Amino acid sequence: MADRPKKKSWAEPFKIKVVEPIRMTTREQRLDYIKEAGYNTFLLRSRDVYIDLLTDSGTSAMSDNQWAGMMVGDEAYAGSENFYHLEEAVRKYYGYKWIVPTHQGRAAEHIISQLMIKKGDYIPGNMYFTTTRLHQELAGGGFVDVIIDEAHDPENEHPFKANIDLNKLEDLIKKVGPEKVPYVSMATAVNMAGGQPISLSNLKQVRALTQKYGIPIIHDATRVAENAYLIKEREEGYADKPLADIVREICDLTDGCTMSAKKDCLVNIGGFLAVNDEELYKKAQNMVVVYEGLHTYGGMAGRDMEAVARGLAESVEFDHIKARVGQVQYLGEKLRGWGVPIIVPIGTHGVFLDAKRFLPHLDQDQFPAQALAAAIYIESGVRSMERGNVSAGRDPETGENRKPKLELVRLTVPRRVYTQAHMDVTAEAILEVFDNRDRVKGLHFVYEPEYLRFFQARFEEID
Ligand code: F0G
Repeated sequence: MADRPKKKSWAEPFKIKVVEPIRMTTREQRLDYIKEAGYNTFLLRSRDVYIDLLTDSGTSAMSDNQWAGMMVGDEAYAGSENFYHLEEAVRKYYGYKWIVPTHQGRAAEHIISQLMIKKGDYIPGNMYFTTTRLHQELAGGGFVDVIIDEAHDPENEHPFKANIDLNKLEDLIKKVGPEKVPYVSMATAVNMAGGQPISLSNLKQVRALTQKYGIPIIHDATRVAENAYLIKEREEGYADKPLADIVREICDLTDGCTMSAKKDCLVNIGGFLAVNDEELYKKAQNMVVVYEGLHTYGGMAGRDMEAVARGLAESVEFDHIKARVGQVQYLGEKLRGWGVPIIVPIGTHGVFLDAKRFLPHLDQDQFPAQALAAAIYIESGVRSMERGNVSAGRDPETGENRKPKLELVRLTVPRRVYTQAHMDVTAEAILEVFDNRDRVKGLHFVYEPEYLRFFQARFEEID
């Protein structure tokens, strides 16, 4: 007889109404496809992918309620009803006063960076994100990482690895002067650290420190609900607080946010900028018409705004987030149990393989994470993404590869899309690659784009 279960199982709080078939390919086919794609999983065709864990961005399954919302899209050029629904949802759940819609997150980053950053400014943040930092640099600023040291150590079990090191932050402010720090760039569920949360006690301290110097906090709220879930799970005093209240408490400690609604808000496209300062809002409204569209649609169709508004409400439902993060934890625990090196604690939106420990025979300038993502695809058809030396890019001053401490492959889990069985198949595929890891070869560039090179770079194997 099999062992009786030690703990109660849980299940997804939904049933499946529509399905999309996926295609299995052979190893020989996949070898051809990845060579054609220059060993870059971003350049594969989706039809050639079996289980797609490239990103959780824009890949969610929408609910029937969101699809119903698409039918009541008000496609007026100006004053679409759906914009007002979106504005209402952002005010209700995040509490920010003024909302400027954008087609996705980086458009909001562009606007806020151009409006707030002057040449020679410094923007401290809890680890960089690729598009966020690039927009800060394009506006003339320099990003300064002030995340706690533990975040750069894949084996450190700190429960709040996205916390800001208050000494690093204050040292920077004192060194360059508060007038050269336009804002603190604070992200929830920090992507590049492995989907790690910030604690509310840390954020409160950051708030107190920055208020002393009159410096605002701009929040990258892309995965705020997922961060709130881990606060509820891990931070003292929050276990009985509703998830929505925790989300609100985070937002209330900041002055505005940029949002890629393609993640937490469960939509395929969309985003916004939200601020509390009316003057700043007016400037952002003026800028959005130059780059995105009128200030009541900002590059989105009316129906897209409706889906964001409804998705935002769903994102703060406890059962949804519990199952979403639970699925990621399930995949992570399996791999960890088999001794596959992953970032711990397991984060919220994906499992991050530690490519330095996975492929110790490769030098970081041979792009081990890029090579590992390609090897996983060849072995199984599972698509993952590099988050290491290629993503980090070159230092604008020295032109050298930045060689970040974290050299990772991200297995990102789309929301409400795959089943536990897909996670089992994925875990077994990774184990297979791990067993044959000595065979994975390093890569060198054959094409390297100037900006965000990871999206379009091409490589060949080093013999
Ligand atoms: N901020 C964070 C934390 C993100 O993860 C992303 C996108 C953005 C901003 C930019 O938003 O794509 O809507 O323009 N992350 C995706 C990813 C691309 O795969 O992690 P966007």
